Amino acid sequence: MTTDRADLARLEGWAKVTGTARYAGDHHPDDLAHAWPVPATIARGDLAAVRTEAALAVPGVLAVLTHHDAPALALPDDGDPTLAVLQSPRIAHRGQIVALVVAETPEDARAGAAAVECVYRPEPFDVVLTDDHQGLYTPAQANGGHPAVRERGDFDTAHGQAAVRIDRTYRIGPLHNHPMEPHTATAQWDGERLTVHDSSQGTNQVRTTLATLFGLAVADVLVISEHVGGGFGSKGTTRPHAVLATMAARRVDRPVRLALPRDQLPALTGYRAPTVHRVRLGADDDGRITALAHEVTTRSSTVREFVEQAAVPARVMYHSPNSRTVHRVVRQDVPTPSWMRAPGEAPGMFALECAMDELAETCGLDPVELRIRNEPAVEPDSDRPFSSRHLVECLREGARRFDWSRRHAAGPRREGRRLLGSGVAAATYPVLIAPSTAEVLARPDGTFLVRVNATDIGTGARTVLAAVAAETLAVPPDRVDVEIGRSDLPPAPLAGGSAGTASWGWAVHDACTGLRRALTDRGGTPLPSEGLRHRADTTDAVAAGSTFARHAFGAQFAEVEVDADTGEVRLRRLLGVFAAGRILNTRTARSQFTGAMIMGASMALLEHSTLDPGFGDHAERDLASYHVAVNADVPVVEAFWLDEHDEHLNPMGAKGIGELGIVGTAAAVVNAVRHACGVRVRELPIRPEALLPRLPRLPHLPG
Ligand code: MOS
Repeated sequence: MTTDRADLARLEGWAKVTGTARYAGDHHPDDLAHAWPVPATIARGDLAAVRTEAALAVPGVLAVLTHHDAPALALPDDGDPTLAVLQSPRIAHRGQIVALVVAETPEDARAGAAAVECVYRPEPFDVVLTDDHQGLYTPAQANGGHPAVRERGDFDTAHGQAAVRIDRTYRIGPLHNHPMEPHTATAQWDGERLTVHDSSQGTNQVRTTLATLFGLAVADVLVISEHVGGGFGSKGTTRPHAVLATMAARRVDRPVRLALPRDQLPALTGYRAPTVHRVRLGADDDGRITALAHEVTTRSSTVREFVEQAAVPARVMYHSPNSRTVHRVVRQDVPTPSWMRAPGEAPGMFALECAMDELAETCGLDPVELRIRNEPAVEPDSDRPFSSRHLVECLREGARRFDWSRRHAAGPRREGRRLLGSGVAAATYPVLIAPSTAEVLARPDGTFLVRVNATDIGTGARTVLAAVAAETLAVPPDRVDVEIGRSDLPPAPLAGGSAGTASWGWAVHDACTGLRRALTDRGGTPLPSEGLRHRADTTDAVAAGSTFARHAFGAQFAEVEVDADTGEVRLRRLLGVFAAGRILNTRTARSQFTGAMIMGASMALLEHSTLDPGFGDHAERDLASYHVAVNADVPVVEAFWLDEHDEHLNPMGAKGIGELGIVGTAAAVVNAVRHACGVRVRELPIRPEALLPRLPRLPHLPG
């Protein structure tokens, strides 16, 4: 194992590969009981009656909670209404929880759940998203506090007068997070004190939410997420399973575990909302954009407004004197969407970067060159200078490494019955940061303990924080221990928005800087037995903000083969070059980039979810029907990065990297398919049955 700070191996790697790392469902308190939820089977209406006698007669069943007898939750006005579980007989979507069975074993609980009888008063429901739906409205804001609508200049006139015009509509269906570890909580009461092992991206927020809902003092709630098997945003907020496990533990007066069955995740834990994108570009004959419009239509549930901010990247990417970016949403009788990796940017950049490829083709320009020609001097929407922006360098470096110039020299290629092509797209993701505290202890034996309520959802957070501390303290990393993932540690924000490392790392850096100074001041005086502690809080520093527009950028290149006889698209190669400030750990960063690129390839070629109009629910609810990329789908995936120095970020000079890699990947694949076979796909995923009828007929070639 290397001890080089920039290449530090995962501190918990050994525990994970030997199976000793404990996730939320791996805690086995004495007397543990198990819960299983009963989902509604109608999309809208009322629960007229719920009969529990048969369920209670199932051997091992301890209790059945329904809206008649579940604890009343103190949901605040600004609270998340998807957490108001078992509070009313009203059904807002299929899959909503109508009862919870608690039993001695998961099998008993499942058998009990199957025996609960529900009588519904169903009502007509509305689940089909169309771009002319009567219920569409312009929300006050899109997610992230972004204005729903931005106008600059006079788009209509400029587009009308442009020499070259693109007007296209792109579609992406719902996408599901499906972390390897399903959402799980083990809840245990001790009088009025509550301990929950939860699979969460941030336990401070879960602690506060549970305290509020159950009327507890925050100090009496402890939430632990020591290891988390992926989240991708779906564990970024408190989810219903944690509330249900807590209720159930109260009812049976025993510890209770609830591991959501995978087929219930799509209805209960959020998903990426479907989006329809109308993108219009106007340009002069040289490909210089004069008018740019990105109008997004999306949907949310009747329970909560959630507006995927997919037109936001169009405010950042390209110079255009005239621009219109719009979000519209309709509230339907569907499960409530939520965060999924690169919310906004992942779907938005699919549409924009496909449209850029169409513009390049119309102008007869190389798509790399088109993007370079439209590079803005400042952030288009705000006129603010960029703290750093190396998109052009990413494109050039990527083109060099990918051997992009050969694409033009040779044109599309053919290998037998397979058509080969390559495509490019840009990536961007904002630099987000949240206030954090952290504490570091110098022990008399020369080792250090960093304490911060960061969460490692598989990213390598623990490892990177050890490296930040080691570097700041100027000691070898093996002298630094890190404690994370508990709500009784110094408060810190969630692992989300690609902001974790920057937010926590800043506080760790400041704590270590303070400690190092204190140690220097002591000269060689031996430390007291309890050691020497230093604590930092970045609230003021983060609040000071920045006058710069801060974003990470990247360039994605894809090579595909299209089977001329079946329409199947196989990926041959993905290559990304990213500019994301300083890369703090090469191993974990490469894993984040390539992992996200694979997720983007999966979005392009495999992930497909149907909202069944007959039942009003997502049809593909398990990994047998909702396909995600496996190793055989991604033969070569390479991630590189530039050495980017940015003084306007944080003491480490780091931008976030968790989400950037998924952005643009799907567009690069779609653009490669167009290059390979001439078919322009405008809806994800690229499906053989959609491609096949449009493929050129190949004469039979020998061999
Ligand atoms: Mo990420 S979707 O911000 O957890």
